[in-house]
Amino acid sequence: MKNRRNFLKTACKPIVLATLGIPIIEACSTEEDSNVTAPTNSTPTDNSSSQASSSNELEIDLDDNRFSSLKEVGGWLNFTSENILLVRISDSEIRAFDNACPHQGTRNRWSFDGSNFTCARHGNSFSASCSGSLKCFDTSLDGNILTVDLG
Ligand code: FES
Repeated sequence: MKNRRNFLKTACKPIVLATLGIPIIEACSTEEDSNVTAPTNSTPTDNSSSQASSSNELEIDLDDNRFSSLKEVGGWLNFTSENILLVRISDSEIRAFDNACPHQGTRNRWSFDGSNFTCARHGNSFSASCSGSLKCFDTSLDGNILTVDLG
């Protein structure tokens, strides 16, 4: 009898109801479980010049030669290990975008004409203005350190 009481106290409701023949589809979780969050980004394994500075921010050292295309206004690159497109807008601004196409999510098929990114999969173009459908991330530039808030 004591074991049955302990079971009812500790088992989650759906299991108890299921043992009583009442089907309910629901995840079993406790308040403790819901506080566990997975990291939203990871430190790139193939790029020592960038690192996650906090859970959602990415710091990029622009002195690294792999980012040399960002030195000139209009220069851009697809930072595939972080799934972001980076484009130099001015001396003081670099924008960052999700490299997943808003149309069907294709990645890494981009070209850039100076104002629009075009996805080669179906030929759709998206503005690099942060007001279009291509997801834009907040960035800040401090010297040669670019910080991207991946949200
Ligand atoms: S998936 Fe990019 S244009 Fe269709």
